[in-house]
Amino acid sequence: MAKKQGSHFECMECGHESTRWLGRCPACNAWNTFKEVKEFSLASKSASAAVSAAMGTAPIPAGPRVLEDLEVRDGVRFTSGFGEFDRVLGGGFMAGASFLLGGEPGIGKSTLLTQAAAAIGWAGGTVLYAHGEESANQVKLRWERLGLPMNNIHVLETCRIDILRDALESLKPRLLIIDSVQTLFDPALDSPPGSIQQAKFGVFALTEACRSLETSVCLVAHVTKEGVIAGPKVLEHMVDTVLYFEQAEGDVRFLRAQKNRFGATDELGFFRMDEAGLKEIKNAAEVFLENRQGDIPAGIVLSPALEGTRSFLVELQALVIPGKQGFSRLYSEKIDQRRVSRIAAVLEKHGSLKLSDHDLYIHVAGGIRIQDPSLDLALGLALHSARTGLSLPKGWAIVGELSLAGEVRTVGKIKKRIQAAEDAGCVRIIGPRCNETDLPRSYMAVASLGEAIRKVFGSASLRKDKRQGDEVADDASEA
Ligand code: TYD
Ligand code: MG
Repeated sequence: MAKKQGSHFECMECGHESTRWLGRCPACNAWNTFKEVKEFSLASKSASAAVSAAMGTAPIPAGPRVLEDLEVRDGVRFTSGFGEFDRVLGGGFMAGASFLLGGEPGIGKSTLLTQAAAAIGWAGGTVLYAHGEESANQVKLRWERLGLPMNNIHVLETCRIDILRDALESLKPRLLIIDSVQTLFDPALDSPPGSIQQAKFGVFALTEACRSLETSVCLVAHVTKEGVIAGPKVLEHMVDTVLYFEQAEGDVRFLRAQKNRFGATDELGFFRMDEAGLKEIKNAAEVFLENRQGDIPAGIVLSPALEGTRSFLVELQALVIPGKQGFSRLYSEKIDQRRVSRIAAVLEKHGSLKLSDHDLYIHVAGGIRIQDPSLDLALGLALHSARTGLSLPKGWAIVGELSLAGEVRTVGKIKKRIQAAEDAGCVRIIGPRCNETDLPRSYMAVASLGEAIRKVFGSASLRKDKRQGDEVADDASEA
């Protein structure tokens, strides 16, 4: 297909651009997704006319000003009605700021925003809910099914920029919800609805207009199969905050800030979806710890993880079985596989335990993805326990990063982690040597992986480790 002047081809799935038509997108591998679009530049005449139309009466920004003379105003925050949502936002919605909320279809994005909108409306703030995906009927039915108040809620059955602009100007809402960014459309542009150009332009026009009206705008975005927001990265750069709504096990959902101009990015919010909508989970331990009676099976280790400002106990589960014909495989969805193999290598070298001819399975109870590197030592001990069949004592928790030399490195916020472990009923916490004084008596510092293994499994385990091979497992099962 020949390229017309001033146009290019674009994948409608991910926004990958090409000068010629392609059958399969090299970026997202989707078939037959390329369409021709006119070159779009925010500096071009038609685009700048469309931008000024879309932004309506947004004031023209002032020229340079003397910094010393500027009056500083703190941003105005308002609550989403959910403590968990507010914390991830950095303390509630910021007036005039823009948010992208990404997540797989059916995860609960519309439900989360419906519940937040109802709380904001109930508190007296006007909300404009623009939906290009569902009919007004479906939106009202969801509202009724959830039994939510409808005070101060306005719905708009389109995400057309020109219509949105008029509604924004007449309502001046506290919150504008766009469900979804993929349905944003301005007929003044030459690109087809659903194209990345339309989304880019729509996000630009809306964030500018909302900033001047002090309206917060929340834009729902789909994610690709790889779990990233569909469309070019530039959409994420255009907004103040990027949030992902993800599924843990079963009905548990968690909200993660991937970018946040107004707060921390590693903050997590936990929710449970039931027939009455989303409920926040304030006690994370209730989701991420198995409720066990009796002894702890081999391969299980508890560790106080820290995500954002909160520490909570997670349960690591390891299974180690002989590989077929000495060929080793690794299965780990919730913890980065490269990290697991690094820890396995450190354990093989410094814990004198042969793992390279075994298959390794790693899981985190509750199905949460963990990025905190301070789980290294716990992971090492879980693999050791699974390999030898020796269990950890009940009520013990492990924390610490591991160097390649097998040293246990210090971790941030150790007191908070110890507190989380104690709150969950742990009586002994093993972790790095640190400068903190007045640590509780439950805390025991170790310098190396070897020392941790001795402290946790006792001298018997070390004798067994040294002999290696299948004897280890046999001895352990006899023990
Ligand atoms: P929805 O918010 O529409 O998801 P998204 O906007 O991310 O696509 O939620 C869809 C799913 O949630 C749907 O499968 C039904 C379920 N759900 C409940 O379990 N309980 C509820 O109260 C609601 C409203 C939805
Ligand atoms: Mg939806």
